[in-house]
Amino acid sequence: MTVRALSVVPGKPKTAAVTSHPEPLDDDGGLLVDGLLVGICGTDVEILREGYGWSPPGEERLVIGHESLGRIAEAPADSGFEAGDLVVGIVRRPDPVPCLPCSLGAWDFCRNGRYTERGIKERHGYAASRWRVEPEFAVKVDPRLGDLGVLVEPTSVVAKAWDQAEKVAARSPAPRHIALITGAGPIGLLAALLGVQRGYEVHVLDRVTTGPKPALAKDLGATYHTGDVTEIEVRPDVVIECTGNGPLVFALTEIVATDGVICLTGISGSKKQATMRPDEVNKEMVLDNLALVGSVNASRAHYEQAAAALARADREWLARLITRRVPLGDFEKALSREDGDVKVVLDLQR
Ligand code: BGC
Repeated sequence: MTVRALSVVPGKPKTAAVTSHPEPLDDDGGLLVDGLLVGICGTDVEILREGYGWSPPGEERLVIGHESLGRIAEAPADSGFEAGDLVVGIVRRPDPVPCLPCSLGAWDFCRNGRYTERGIKERHGYAASRWRVEPEFAVKVDPRLGDLGVLVEPTSVVAKAWDQAEKVAARSPAPRHIALITGAGPIGLLAALLGVQRGYEVHVLDRVTTGPKPALAKDLGATYHTGDVTEIEVRPDVVIECTGNGPLVFALTEIVATDGVICLTGISGSKKQATMRPDEVNKEMVLDNLALVGSVNASRAHYEQAAAALARADREWLARLITRRVPLGDFEKALSREDGDVKVVLDLQR
């Protein structure tokens, strides 16, 4: 059977195309999966439009896609999976050395940078009508979630961010109540969902005043803010920063509570210069015991937490996050932002 996949020659965005491939090889794992959906995020746009990404060694093209959802077609008898199960594939694989964190399954803390990532770094991704995955890198999705399972990977990223933020916050005996999420894209809204589930009073800050984001935040029970962060009159104990906007990151040090934690999940390709007050930021951080912590990727435990958090969430609310579903053949349409977009997904069977 021929497989249709979205691939590109990394570094040459004009080569992005739907290509035909032979049936995936057993080397990629014992589970054979019919690809259903892949989510498109900023990293995919960077790969397809700006030349980011790395092909597998010895190959020219990279099949993209890391926010996966598929249905098992064939599973080995002792794998813990069976035909018909909905699954998500884990993105990162441990480095071959392996470093100590990778040897313990904490590949999201890889020390030597030689990890690989499906759809991003030296391994084909999941934007394919059929793919394979090793059972130990597959996560079962509650069948009641259906297509919403495509949100497991982005949720795993914020599950790790919350885990980091709360571990760092635990250095102070003070209880934590108030969370601020900066950015109301899919990552921000999923971070807000996890904050509400953890019992926080959640505030969401974004630039937009129209479209679905304000209502999505409010319907979670969060308070939606726009405008300048220094004017929001909230002193959050925990900030999950999801915009990647550098000047905003440093402005956050002015408004967080004493002992506050700012966890950074976003990155920006921007090279713009900005004036900063490094000595003031330093003073604020020291005198207020502030912590700035970066967080990338996710371990298996975070994927499992993500799948469980989504299974507990209101499915109608989650469905409103997926604002466009684009057939694989029209992938270009998924790469440009349209008004009202939150999460755009590619349909791999159309
Ligand atoms: C993915 C992560 C990945 C990171 C860096 C993100 O878009 O969600 O899984 O580790 O990019 O490549």
